Amino acid sequence: MIQLKNTVDNPKGICAYLLFEEDYEEKQQSSLFTELKNKDVFSGKKDSFYTTSFIEDHELKTICLLGLGKRKELTEEALRMAVAKATKQANKLKERELTFFLDQVFMKDKWIRAIGEGLTLAQYAFDKYLSDKKEKTLDNIVLAIPAAPSFKDALDEGIFLGAMTIEARELTNEPGDVVTPVYLANKAKELGKGAGFSTTVYDKKAIEKLKMNAFLAVASGSSFEPVLIVMEYTGNTDGETLGLVGKGITFDTGGLSLKPANSMSTMQGDMGGAASVLTAMGAIAEQKLPINVTAVIAACDNAVSGKSYRPNDILTSRSGKTIFVANTDAEGRLTLIDAVDYILTEKKVDYIVDIATLTGAAEIALGQKIAPTVTNDEAFYKKLKKASKVTGERTWELPHDEDYLELIKSPYADLTNSGGRFAGTITAGLFVGAVVGETPWIHIDIAGPSWAEKDTGYFSKGATGFGTRLLYQLAKEMSNG
Ligand code: BES
Ligand code: MN
Ligand code: ZN
Repeated sequence: MIQLKNTVDNPKGICAYLLFEEDYEEKQQSSLFTELKNKDVFSGKKDSFYTTSFIEDHELKTICLLGLGKRKELTEEALRMAVAKATKQANKLKERELTFFLDQVFMKDKWIRAIGEGLTLAQYAFDKYLSDKKEKTLDNIVLAIPAAPSFKDALDEGIFLGAMTIEARELTNEPGDVVTPVYLANKAKELGKGAGFSTTVYDKKAIEKLKMNAFLAVASGSSFEPVLIVMEYTGNTDGETLGLVGKGITFDTGGLSLKPANSMSTMQGDMGGAASVLTAMGAIAEQKLPINVTAVIAACDNAVSGKSYRPNDILTSRSGKTIFVANTDAEGRLTLIDAVDYILTEKKVDYIVDIATLTGAAEIALGQKIAPTVTNDEAFYKKLKKASKVTGERTWELPHDEDYLELIKSPYADLTNSGGRFAGTITAGLFVGAVVGETPWIHIDIAGPSWAEKDTGYFSKGATGFGTRLLYQLAKEMSNG
């Protein structure tokens, strides 16, 4: 439980203070600060951290100091990281309560929301299959801040977004025999019912009728049937519609162009884009944002069998563009090109964002913290950048010059699904974007940031839920005009 209170007289458990570098100068009179400064154990610098226990009035007290850096440079992300550290410390010390004493610097909705996100996200670990779970004692967190009740909505928003992101993490971490295409469809229905958006699910026969042959080719090797999931939320009847498309490969073996074992080891997470789209829809609808959003997921399993599609097959995608299959492991773009064509021609959206764990090249280019993007509309991209600053989910724009299209030309078909080693993230993005025409479009490749190698800050090893909050915030920025 996370509570807001104006003051706390008798704090139990850990008392946490969020501090800036400048606090040294101002709090010189405090003996504790001077002492810590002299001992050089706590600096107030970003990520600096100090905890100590002592006896006062016959009671054991523990304080936790969390550095945020320079006051003027405060970011939401620094707050998320700092409060997450305090929760980890509380569990480590087997404390049940944690109280943050927040001064007026933090009296802004955006800071409180970020604190709510960080506190919520820090409590998650994918441990449901573990018999011996790591013990979590912390069950009551208090934010002591002046005018506490006025921050209730901001705190609730942060907690809710944290919970939706956790939902995305859980979906992404679950094995590929649990989170199947149909499982994703049921999750969409469940979220839709709770939050207030409609869900329509198309089965294989219906997908055939829709001529989504590139999507169907990817699905052909699996005993799990593909589904097309369509979600619609109306928050502004006369307004424009944002279209979201998420890659939903529930397990990526690579198909007949089989992945080596070590590359396959996290491929249950190849539906991370779908997870972020599903949960962003939940958040957008639940928060009743005044915007229309339509979301599409072409969910399937890229498996190996006698029915699998083959290298050198030539597919006719829904758009009519023919595709030479150079590599069955470049499957995401095949599902996405049909999903994007569908959302554009059937749903007539005004903007498109696709989000996908699409290329290993994305990780090579930017590492695991930043998602590369490709776009055809700088004004639209500016909104994403703004959203990204708020949520801490970082993106970086790659060039999308026309000459890269040369790389995905084929002598046998209109497009090839693999442009080779050069500019792999750009060519994958441009492949998906080949059907968007003039519609403002952003492609986000989350192969890197969708997965964390180890526990750090508010992340735990495994899926990060990258994209849930980013897409929500983008919709929020767009609905603010
Ligand atoms: N799902 C993978 C991309 C991926 C790699 C996601 C690592 C997360 C972590 C995608 O389907 C894939 O296999 N891409 C190939 C494309 C190539 C065959 C053109 C890749 O990146 O190697
Ligand atoms: Mn693949
Ligand atoms: Zn894949």
